[in-house]
Amino acid sequence: MLNPYQNIQSALQTAPKTWLITGVAGFIGSNLLETLLKLDQRVIGLDNFATGHQRNLDEVQTNGTASGAHRTLCGSI
Ligand SMILES: NC(=O)c1ccc[n+]([C@@H]2O[C@H](COP(=O)([O-])OP(=O)(O)OC[C@H]3O[C@@H](n4cnc5c(N)ncnc54)[C@H](O)[C@@H]3O)[C@@H](O)[C@H]2O)c1
Repeated sequence: MLNPYQNIQSALQTAPKTWLITGVAGFIGSNLLETLLKLDQRVIGLDNFATGHQRNLDEVQTNGTASGAHRTLCGSI
């Protein structure tokens, strides 16, 4: 029996989506990026690096199957 979070994870892995993360180089954004990549999702990240850091993106771990499945755009929203 899957719990509600596991049900969402399973549904996303069955039918991957494309996500836009604003502030992807920040604390919340980079952790969200890591979670989505581990679920084999496609991710576009947007950040102007005002308070975010490239190292947050460099530290993102994937499950090995989704590496490089994200693109980060530099810019303001
Ligand atoms: N280890 C920890 O527990 C830890 C570490 C860092 C932060 N925090 C907490 O996390 C919270 C902050 O996290 P966050 O992710 O909301 O903030 P953040 O500053 O880490 O991330 C915001 C991101 O948005 C980007 N940004 C801001 N304005 C933008 C714009 N106009 N266009 C494009 N990008 C833009 C910034 O460059 C940054 O990368 C705070 O509560 C802080 O205390 C916890």
